[in-house]
Amino acid sequence: MAELPGKALAEELAAASRDESRTTPIEDVIAAARSPGLDDDAVHRLVSRLWVLERMFYYVYGGWGQGLEINDFPASIKYLFSKQIVDESTHEMLYLDTLLRRGCVKTQKEAFQHPYGGFSVDSGVAYYVFSLRNLATYPHPIRIAALNLGPKIVELAWMEALAAVIADPALKQVFASQAVENRSHIAMGRRIVEEFVEREDTPDVAQSRPRALHRMPHVLHRVPRARHQRGLCRARAAAPHRNRSRRLHLSRLHGLPDVLPGGRLDR
Ligand SMILES: [Fe+2]
Repeated sequence: MAELPGKALAEELAAASRDESRTTPIEDVIAAARSPGLDDDAVHRLVSRLWVLERMFYYVYGGWGQGLEINDFPASIKYLFSKQIVDESTHEMLYLDTLLRRGCVKTQKEAFQHPYGGFSVDSGVAYYVFSLRNLATYPHPIRIAALNLGPKIVELAWMEALAAVIADPALKQVFASQAVENRSHIAMGRRIVEEFVEREDTPDVAQSRPRALHRMPHVLHRVPRARHQRGLCRARAAAPHRNRSRRLHLSRLHGLPDVLPGGRLDR
């Protein structure tokens, strides 16, 4: 079998995300969960903010789904993406059920109305979601590379770490139960990038692409932008159909960790 064109790129992106997955501000939350432990309010806040993040993915996926049709990718790709949408739906419900079961809120309506469960347009979550939403104009392999080989790898590390340190059996299971799903999304990302994205270092690429991918990690991490630009690579969608000629500027998207800076989701 011929070498898949995006194999090296997929590994590069995944490795970079793995490297950073345990160096983010969520470590403060993980440390607090280990000792002294999360009190009821901290659990309410953590689960609520993760719930907001998860349900915001629908806004992203809605736009991306339309682009998927336009670009006419193979059915297998559409299937995998559809599966991810369903997975995230159950993930969101898992968080909401946790809030209800623990008595943090009495109803779903109350969960939406509580400050911890609201979506603020002036927040780290908002910057992250709007940036992902802007990827709707990119071919699907680039979007999936940006999501599933970026923050999804970081998210998996969060889930595993939280599951390891949380003592409460039910809460531990909330995070442990998502590992398989999360790994499947990462595997999908790797498969799509390996098959449909190939690297091409072309000097003019950076000039011709939107800057959103550069800005977003900077906005969310609040660290010098140059740190993120080191990891940039240029890629083009290799295989399918009408995407063949589109050159793309691909960046790792690191936003997710800073959704919880210092244990807070809102700034
Ligand atoms: Fe999920």
